[in-house]
Amino acid sequence: MSVESTVRAVTTLRLTEMKQRGEKIAMLTSYDYSMAKIVDAAGIDVILVGDSAANVMAGYETTLPITLDEMIYHARSVVRATKRALVVVDMPFGTYQGNSKVALDSAVRIMKETEADAIKMEGGEEILESVQRILSAGIPIMGHLGLTPQSIHKFGTYTVRAKEEAEAAKLIRDAHLLEEAGCFSCVLEKIPAALATRVSKELRIPTIGIGAGSGCDGQVLVIHDMLGINKGFSPRFLRRYADLDTVMTNAVTQYIDDVKSLDFPNEKEQY
Ligand code: KIV
Repeated sequence: MSVESTVRAVTTLRLTEMKQRGEKIAMLTSYDYSMAKIVDAAGIDVILVGDSAANVMAGYETTLPITLDEMIYHARSVVRATKRALVVVDMPFGTYQGNSKVALDSAVRIMKETEADAIKMEGGEEILESVQRILSAGIPIMGHLGLTPQSIHKFGTYTVRAKEEAEAAKLIRDAHLLEEAGCFSCVLEKIPAALATRVSKELRIPTIGIGAGSGCDGQVLVIHDMLGINKGFSPRFLRRYADLDTVMTNAVTQYIDDVKSLDFPNEKEQY
């Protein structure tokens, strides 16, 4: 088997080329085989196996509790379904923030056990040693700056980040540090659009925004939010493309009625 046949169509290099041509990058999360199959076949560029799985799949309040083993389980399911998109997997909280050797071990486990294409890590200067160590092992990294949900207990709120000059200056510095270290892309979450546009213009690598305006090189949303499965979450940046909560509730209530009224199964639906 040639190397080409094992590599998915969208590569980290292709994302850089998309930025150079001015073609926007579309990224969505997925956490399981069936959803990833639909998202990939629809033509998405990047699938993120986000640690938002902790919220939308497991029902936790924050992303902190999800474990490396659980992320690996989700990522393996997604990779099995994905033929075209680049698959990026979040490094969960506690697997890279301290010791860079532990960080490398965590990243190697993700790459070996899932066959994903890349990992994502939250933070800038604070995690630079881990970033450099992982990159030097040949593992591609997507950075993540701005609102970094794994630090929610430090921020105390999910409101817009980097509105103040000092925080914006740090974010710009961090973005350049990540690019210089060799990250192939960077998520910018919930920061002012003008700041995200500036960072996107200054960097050669593509930025992927969520609540960061139209000046980013790409956009990402959590699939449960954009499909309207997770109706309790309605931030200003979210556009809902479907109301699956209503569709699914109607289907389930219809099924219950059909079973109770002896309408299901009918003669054609049995052997
Ligand atoms: O975990 C996640 O889904 C993310 C995106 C919101 C960027 O990190």
